[in-house]
Amino acid sequence: MSLLITGGTGYIGSHTVVELLKLDQDIIIADNLSNSSTVVLDRIKEITDKSVTFIKADICDFASLDAIFEQNDIEAVIHFAGLKAVGESNQIPLNYYQNNVAGSVTLFQVMAKHNVKKLVFSSSATVYGENNVSPLDESMPTSAINPYGQTKLMVENILFDLAKSDSEWSIACLRYFNPIGAHDSGLIGEHPNGIPNNLLPYVAQVAVGRLAQLQVFGDDYDTVDGTGVRDYIHVVDLALGHVKALQKLDDIEGCQPINIGTGNGTSVLEIVNTFKDISGKDIPYTIVPRRAGDIATVYADASVANNLLDWKATRDLTEMITDTWRWQSKNPNGFES
Ligand code: NAD
Ligand code: UD1
Repeated sequence: MSLLITGGTGYIGSHTVVELLKLDQDIIIADNLSNSSTVVLDRIKEITDKSVTFIKADICDFASLDAIFEQNDIEAVIHFAGLKAVGESNQIPLNYYQNNVAGSVTLFQVMAKHNVKKLVFSSSATVYGENNVSPLDESMPTSAINPYGQTKLMVENILFDLAKSDSEWSIACLRYFNPIGAHDSGLIGEHPNGIPNNLLPYVAQVAVGRLAQLQVFGDDYDTVDGTGVRDYIHVVDLALGHVKALQKLDDIEGCQPINIGTGNGTSVLEIVNTFKDISGKDIPYTIVPRRAGDIATVYADASVANNLLDWKATRDLTEMITDTWRWQSKNPNGFES
């Protein structure tokens, strides 16, 4: 029996594949390589000494997915594939709805056709919108403030309806907080195309000299030092959350949203100062106005993940930033040589 990992050559997917290979799982990755590279496959092999089956396929293509399910004995799917840049989603919303929503529906149709009804879906804390007060828990109302967030919310709602319509489905909707860090080998990590939108890849690229200085989006929030507070989680802890979710899928009835965060908040300036200490590099920054759509403080109540999945994040901020820096300094151009 195999696991199908859509988006498995991406940032979170590749780290999850490494953890699954350690457990001797048989893995098939389906990815269209729109935001990743096959070099990742060599790196996964180097870390684990194990190989995966890679199929270049688009989740929007029913026939390609159908062929994968025809030719393999797939027991469950972890669905990472998707576009994830919030700013870009405002500029080309139709691409986001097509790729993230229509693509996911196509995947679920193929799964249903082949009677594969176990799924772990990559959702996001973005579904909590801007009106809830942290710690955020799964019972709070959801909303979206940009097309990217809409796509996550729409897919979650599709999955709730699907699970209601057919009790054989077991679905874990993992709501990630802010994944950062990299594998401690320094062989895989995050390398966004173009100028990064998210804080950590931006800071890392300033430290390594690719970018001149960080812009800190606002220092007048009601937080410890006025800058935004987020729940950063090590990508390996997040990967292990997927392993636990897969193992517990049989105990999950219907579609279960689950926060994957540490429960701790860290400010932008705390990140900058820790990064400076660990890397020994200067991180010049200027304070600029707040970014539209940002809120002051976001962190998780992670008790559902603790209780239901028997999962807890164990890697602290020092480890997250040490691993980010190792990856960035060893691979200043990401997976390009
Ligand atoms: P990523 O871009 O590194 O990985 C996504 C992978 O999906 C890439 O390899 C890309 O090539 C592939 N892909 C995209 N569209 C595809 C399609 N139509 N068919 C096949 N493959 C396709 O992103 P990531 O950070 O690893 O994120 C994985 C998932 O987690 C995404 O769904 C993302 O929205 C979600 N998520 C990410 C974050 C984050 O901060 N990184 C936070 C919350 C949720
Ligand atoms: C952003 C997205 C969110 C998405 C998440 C993970 C927005 C409004 N929100 O969330 O929908 O789910 O990424 O992909 O884009 N910061 C700076 N300077 C920078 C970059 C960020 O000061 O150059 C600050 C932000 O204001 C924030 C913190 O750093 O306070 C973290 O930002 P980021 O990494 O973009 O994550 P989120 O804001 O949580």
